[in-house]
Amino acid sequence: MFYIINIMIIAKKKGKGENMGIIFNEQEKQFHIFNKSLSYVIGICQDGDIGQLYFGKPIRTDQKLQDYQSYGIRPLCCNEKDDEKYTKELALLEYPSFGDGDFGSSAYEVLQDNGSRVSKFTYQFHRIYKGKKPIPGLPATYTNEDEEADSLEIVCRDLISGLEVTLCYTVWENYSAICRHTKLKNTGDKKLKLEQALSCNVDFPDTNFTWLQFEGAWGRERSPKERDISSGITAIESLRGHSSANYNPFVIIKRKNADDFQGEAFGFNLVYSGNYIAKTQADTFGKLRFNMGINPKWFQWPLEPGEEFNTPEVIITYTSNGLNDLSQNIHRLMNNNLVRSAYKNKPRPILLNNWEATEMDFDEEKILKIARKGKEAGVELFVLDDGWFGKRNDDFAGLGDWYVNTDKLPDGISGLSKKINELGLKFGLWIEPEMVNEDSDMYRQHPDWVLAAPYRPRTLGRHQMVLDYSKPEVVDNIYDQLYAVISTASIDYIKWDMNRSITECYSQDVARDKQGMTYHKYIMGVYSLYERLRKAFPHILFESCASGGARFDAGMLYYAPQAWCSDDTDGHERVKIQYGTSYGYPVSMVGSHVSASPNLQTHRAMTIDGRANVAYYGTFGYELDLNEISEEDFESVKEQIKFMKEYRELFQYGNYYRLQSPFENNISAWMVVSDDRQTAIVTTHKTENIPNWGIERIKLQGLNPDIVYTINDKDDIYGDYLMNAGISLMNKERHWYESDGDYTTHMYILKGKVTK
Ligand code: GLA
Repeated sequence: MFYIINIMIIAKKKGKGENMGIIFNEQEKQFHIFNKSLSYVIGICQDGDIGQLYFGKPIRTDQKLQDYQSYGIRPLCCNEKDDEKYTKELALLEYPSFGDGDFGSSAYEVLQDNGSRVSKFTYQFHRIYKGKKPIPGLPATYTNEDEEADSLEIVCRDLISGLEVTLCYTVWENYSAICRHTKLKNTGDKKLKLEQALSCNVDFPDTNFTWLQFEGAWGRERSPKERDISSGITAIESLRGHSSANYNPFVIIKRKNADDFQGEAFGFNLVYSGNYIAKTQADTFGKLRFNMGINPKWFQWPLEPGEEFNTPEVIITYTSNGLNDLSQNIHRLMNNNLVRSAYKNKPRPILLNNWEATEMDFDEEKILKIARKGKEAGVELFVLDDGWFGKRNDDFAGLGDWYVNTDKLPDGISGLSKKINELGLKFGLWIEPEMVNEDSDMYRQHPDWVLAAPYRPRTLGRHQMVLDYSKPEVVDNIYDQLYAVISTASIDYIKWDMNRSITECYSQDVARDKQGMTYHKYIMGVYSLYERLRKAFPHILFESCASGGARFDAGMLYYAPQAWCSDDTDGHERVKIQYGTSYGYPVSMVGSHVSASPNLQTHRAMTIDGRANVAYYGTFGYELDLNEISEEDFESVKEQIKFMKEYRELFQYGNYYRLQSPFENNISAWMVVSDDRQTAIVTTHKTENIPNWGIERIKLQGLNPDIVYTINDKDDIYGDYLMNAGISLMNKERHWYESDGDYTTHMYILKGKVTK
């Protein structure tokens, strides 16, 4: 009876929003943030500290967890006022301070006027409300309707320095996710300087986890790499001024036995594109601390009385059902509540980009010839890449001068875009607005507009320098130049590139105590330009790019719904890159094109269909001169485009499953399934053709067990069999294995039939 009554109370408390809520238990001083797949409990603990009480599978909201915290005191631990019961060293904390008895890695550090860095905040009050507020100047998830999410702000204050720390949480009804960020405000009357302000901290009560990061370099971005984290510090970071191809700002902390299909895991996507750090610290008491945010290295943010600083947001996802489930949650959340675009949840246009066909060596006739052939194939959008502006004939000149090179394009971008439109194609344009070449009118006029350390030589990257986007006048100038081009032409798409990392990060003629702001102000400048262009031209589809995937992050996704995934367009390499990318980002974000064979980057040959089978799992397009391929291949291209037009919604927005990893298997596989589970497409890829190979079956996921599927219009097999026994890759209909060579892909289209 008691049990039944309790259930009723909980059901009543849940009220509207049904499966989600934030409950404050006044008596226990506990906040229970929950939805149908997770519970996150925090409390106002001893000394007014905010403690982490539970994070994991849903638990009852009506229990007392405070006493469960590890509060005990041990030799060499320090505690306030000789309170023998409480030491921070053993407690699990939400946003640990520096210098007050917690010896772990702190979440923030504040330098006070008197030189002290010691601080300690205590709970003041909180607010719970429906919906979610934007974070000024920063990318962040948002609600379409208030009912989608509940938010909590816990306002704390360091009574000595006056620093107010507001911990912000949002829980979503439809995703197993919580979003967090932190606001830091100077409510005192003296200057403060933030020397560290991370976005979030999560303390776990055990260290039985492994860490999964997504690493690489140019041309081989986002390979999954697992690391042991059971002792000491494990971290990844970027100090390149952008999130980087080296370590993506997305990390999974998972139970050691968790894999794509089962097990518990926590995902952390930083919604930010600049320098960052993600770190765990496993201490010798068995506590695991995770924190993430702007890299504190050379970060200093002065706060005058009354001023406030907002950290970027972290999307924290949780699963108890394996990493495919975790990824699908991220995909849905990003598609519905992070992407803002006329193309949000819409099929993406099939494009043809001239870069690998011509590089900068083109004129109008050459471009029109390529575009015409694209139109004949069924392409919808033509994109003119680098080389159309200033004196841009090679890497050495032109960046910064965003006016057309009339030697190449006598009728300008407006004339060319009109001609492309007349062919029945939309027109898109490449820009790289954050950079400048020494040989440019802009640099000659404004040498002080580049980031450069006094009296030191400048490091170049691709012969270019980085414009100082921390200065509003620089951003204004670029905006005006771009506005003039875009507003006078017919432009439906922009590829925004960024081809070098930041070095000598120093803002010329800016006060010495403001230099620590430069990296963050730089990326805020980039965001502000994106925002202005988005607002001025809301119909434009933006694609972000950074020498391929060197700024492929959730921050960029807020402004540009797709991102060039990698400059490596080799089909085999793309299997790995796109597979790794899928852990943290939706297929709709992945810029993927079919390019020439042998491939420009790897010199590897693959069939035209093999290349397309991989590129379908993305925005899809071509990056070659279709005039140069064989008649037979051109016919295939026409078929591919027809096929993609039929299935692109499924590829881009279906439920995506990793089935077999290319990093561990000779044959790898992935699939997408429609929401109604009536249609699915499975793609396999084989690295080496090994003679006389054994039985090969791949177990499918996400199908309806009770309906019969045809596979490429043959067979009649129930979903339960395909999921439990697998699809046979070597039956008599599919004995492709022996006739294939290396690097071959195959696709299986599954269609559900009415149940017999
Ligand atoms: C970068 C991009 C490429 C292409 C070139 C143009 O490398 O990643 O796709 O746009 O720049 O210079």
